[in-house]
Amino acid sequence: MAPTDGDITHTGTPDGSVQAVILVGGKGTRLRPLTLSAPKPMLPTAGMPFLTHLLSRIGAAGITDVVLGTSFKAEVFAEHFGDGSKLGMRLSYVTETEPLGTGGAIRNVLPELTADTILVFNGDVLGGTDVRAVLDTHHSSGADVTIHLVRVGDPRAFGCVPTDDDGRVTAFLEKTQDPPTDQINAGCYVFKRSVIEEIDAGRPVSVEREVFPGLLAHGRHVHAHVDTGYWRDMGTPEDFVQGSADLVRGIAPSPALSGPRGESLVHEGAGVAPGAVLVGGTVVGRGAEIGARARLDGAVVFDGAVIEAGAVVERSIIGFGARIGPRALVRDGVIGDGADIGARCELLRGARVWPGVTIPDGGVRFSTDV
Ligand code: GTP
Repeated sequence: MAPTDGDITHTGTPDGSVQAVILVGGKGTRLRPLTLSAPKPMLPTAGMPFLTHLLSRIGAAGITDVVLGTSFKAEVFAEHFGDGSKLGMRLSYVTETEPLGTGGAIRNVLPELTADTILVFNGDVLGGTDVRAVLDTHHSSGADVTIHLVRVGDPRAFGCVPTDDDGRVTAFLEKTQDPPTDQINAGCYVFKRSVIEEIDAGRPVSVEREVFPGLLAHGRHVHAHVDTGYWRDMGTPEDFVQGSADLVRGIAPSPALSGPRGESLVHEGAGVAPGAVLVGGTVVGRGAEIGARARLDGAVVFDGAVIEAGAVVERSIIGFGARIGPRALVRDGVIGDGADIGARCELLRGARVWPGVTIPDGGVRFSTDV
């Protein structure tokens, strides 16, 4: 069953002077094999496609005109969200036949852009940033482009963005081993529409490696909006699991989730046998079955999956319709859709099982017990 989108209500005053663009065309290779069947922004997260959380945040800021820049598995987005009216938004789609990269994708949606102020989001960022505050920073500085920045412990895997005392961006250093600051690109930008017109059309362009360094080299005004709200790039299995758990526990904000939040979230039609333990922000999808004495800690169990009696699943994603056999252990793993993991198997430390693969009982072990 397809995930639903919850109840989204807009708290912001509708603002027609701003349009949003969400980049959702990436292949999501780091989340394979889950992204072989679904694009990353459509993976179920706390019971709904990840993108619903981002759309609800944009809607809550009063921005209702949203363009999705699609490429990989483009049709899946329109099939689920349609024209956006169920979310109280106007959604449109622009599809690249060949992926154009993050900058090329922004340029490619230009025909859909009528507003002068364009808010651009990576489609895989879970955040609590105040969208209106980012726009306010952009308008008050008069910048050509404003980049939302967050501070992280290890900036090396991200775009490192130093700024001067006035908050102007002085450099854009994508994935540098020697970061001069802990401020990183949070994957949310405000562009003047005229700047998007300057990006080369019809060829792959990286916004991080080409557009931002190019603007800075030409002395253009690129400004920073730094904040300390919740932020997580959901691109890896570790981050996806953590972000999902944070949504379930209420650590990560989402206007799409209402009601109290706790240690686990069990969706309709799922069965949880007596003695099963669900903790750590575990999510159990629709129609999934959890056996007696199974222990799930920070598990993301997609719809229709089965966790048999006594199995242990920790910080792992179990794909649609997969089965984890009795007393098996999955820790820090990704199990593809429909895979079948035999009894007593042990899959640890980043193990990834491809869709439909069957591992016989006791077939993979890290220990020598029988
Ligand atoms: P990895 O392959 O795991 O790096 O994931 P990814 O393909 O999603 O790339 P990345 O996380 O760097 O992309 C950041 C955001 O830009 C994601 O929301 C992607 O969907 C999106 N994106 C990346 N490349 C393209 C592209 O060529 N076209 C479009 N439309 N979106 C893209």
